Amino acid sequence: MTENLYPIFDRMMTRADKEQLLGQRGVMLWFTGLSGSGKSTVAIALERELHRRGLLCRILDGDNIRTGINAGLGFSADDRRENIRRIAEVARLFVDTGIITIAAFISPTEEMRALARDIIGEADFKEIYISTPLEECERRDVKGLYAKARRGEIRHFTGISAPFEPPVSPALALDTSQLSPDECVARLIAFLGVDENR
Ligand code: ADX
Repeated sequence: MTENLYPIFDRMMTRADKEQLLGQRGVMLWFTGLSGSGKSTVAIALERELHRRGLLCRILDGDNIRTGINAGLGFSADDRRENIRRIAEVARLFVDTGIITIAAFISPTEEMRALARDIIGEADFKEIYISTPLEECERRDVKGLYAKARRGEIRHFTGISAPFEPPVSPALALDTSQLSPDECVARLIAFLGVDENR
């Protein structure tokens, strides 16, 4: 008789078990948009609001990914694809733990976002386009990178010397030149269908 290699008591708890424990459903909010479009700002404001309502959230952005697991990756098309692939794999673990997971990366091409969608799974993947126009991102130039890119000091800069392909049919589009962070959060809360009383 073959030995049972996976006796039931060795099995990991399921996503459903974890969602029940947390009293929420895991979901992937995949923010895409230009540098300076407001992805991180909106993500942080949303996290605060979800937390206030007792909902567990995890933000993945450049601060905790490009300095850590993805240190060493640059901005060539290949490196960006690998950046996105690893982020999606990590994000999947969080979604699978029942956590509302927000990724805030440019993810500039349809192909890169399709890769993320494939890894995470169609049912959980919600593409949120932070659609602030290039002119506004460049006017803000929070990090001074657009000026450098215009001077030719940064190569392959998204929107200037590297492509950005707007999503064709995002689940939601938010233009932070038209909407305040609070308004963006309100739309995301409505999109998520968060219970009024939470
Ligand atoms: S992505 O294209 O691989 O998804 P990601 O969101 O991780 O990009 O990183 C973008 C951030 O890196 C920008 O907001 C900016 O601060 C910085 N950055 C540095 N070089 C570039 C570049 N060539 N193009 C775009 N962003 C850059």
